[in-house]
Amino acid sequence: MRAVDLIRKKRDGQELTSEEIAFLVKGYSEGQIPDYQMAAWAMAVYYQGMTARETADLTLAMAGSGDTIDLGSIHGIKVDKHSTGGVGDKTTVVLGPLVAACGVPVAKMSGRGLGHTGGTIDKLEAISGFSVELGKEQFFRQVNEIGLAVVGQSGNMTPADKKLYALRDVTATVDSIPLIASSVMSKKIAAGADAIVLDVKTGSGAFMKTLEDSIRLAKAMVDIGTQVGRRTVAVISDMDQPLGHAIGNALEIQEAVATLRGEGPTDLEEVCLILASHMLILGGKAADEEEAHTMLTAQIKNGEAMEKLKQMVSAQGGNTEQIDHPELLPTAELKVDVKATGSGFVESIQAEEIGIAAMMLGAGRETKDSVIDLAAGVELLKKIGDPVEVGETLAVLHFNPSHEAGRVEAERRILNAYGISGTKVPTRPLVFALVTPDGVKRF
Ligand code: URA
Repeated sequence: MRAVDLIRKKRDGQELTSEEIAFLVKGYSEGQIPDYQMAAWAMAVYYQGMTARETADLTLAMAGSGDTIDLGSIHGIKVDKHSTGGVGDKTTVVLGPLVAACGVPVAKMSGRGLGHTGGTIDKLEAISGFSVELGKEQFFRQVNEIGLAVVGQSGNMTPADKKLYALRDVTATVDSIPLIASSVMSKKIAAGADAIVLDVKTGSGAFMKTLEDSIRLAKAMVDIGTQVGRRTVAVISDMDQPLGHAIGNALEIQEAVATLRGEGPTDLEEVCLILASHMLILGGKAADEEEAHTMLTAQIKNGEAMEKLKQMVSAQGGNTEQIDHPELLPTAELKVDVKATGSGFVESIQAEEIGIAAMMLGAGRETKDSVIDLAAGVELLKKIGDPVEVGETLAVLHFNPSHEAGRVEAERRILNAYGISGTKVPTRPLVFALVTPDGVKRF
């Protein structure tokens, strides 16, 4: 078999066999197929697409390219959750404890942030002492004892995806539905959960900008999950503006803690409750969304969800005082208001621009090796639909003197990110559709 023949075959719109896909993935991860050939193949896929069978084969080949986790020693149905990425997305920190408090074990591996999107692992490290690296035995024991652990991804999980994703990032081939679907699902399959809830973001801050493309992506992932025997559902949720008000690691932990106390922003709370409801249904603890919703809100009201977060923080060496008193989390020395230059109603907030602004203040990484400032970030005081007067504060920049240089550019980006309309703006739905193996339900 030769890579050049497989590139040509895909370029000409033909379907590759399972053996041909396995040959490409193995050859690329072992270094026999060079970047330029894999890039040409990815571009051919970008234009020609892949069949459901090819996408499933690519997923399985990448899932099997490194370590796979067997969660068999954890009791109960293990349900994982994955977001396709967004700005201000701290849902894992909220729904992990919530779902665990309802009796569904959560054994979660999360990532770090890169570029304008944040990562759960960085957020949790804002809690002093919190360790995101547990040995396998400790990870399993903790989930069996308290029902919840969130750790960083094992170093050698899905190395083929890691390599291909980095290549796609620099060859304009990220936004291909079969390539995203196989990338996400290969990681989920390798991580070993029995069931998977996908949060597929749609809108300006997401990979998929339109609802129809987001539904196509969701269907591709649900199909893969179903084919490999993992019960999978996907919620299509809004990323036309950041989720909640806080962007930045410690700021987001504060907001997640407030949400677990029942005092969080309504958009964040609602998205968390919807995702968590599907986790309870797949985990066999609730028959439908209504029952799940009642169970989840009870865990917020009776304090059990908060208690679960504290148990996890304590088990992973973190300072629970910072959960009881979030003002003890790292705070930035400087706070600067970004003021509106016009009056009207907030019509749009370009999530990606806000994410980049937070990164320029030190909250995110420009390269894999950048050191992040856990206290830095952006707090949005105005969201879509809110009335605004000229001179009113739209957002607050949180940063330390070491990032003073990023402040002007961050301020400019935030002002550009806000669209202000002269007329009242209808609020957007938070959730647009649910995709299950049975079909698509639009709301
Ligand atoms: N997230 C992933 O893990 N992979 C993609 O290709 C896109 C988003």
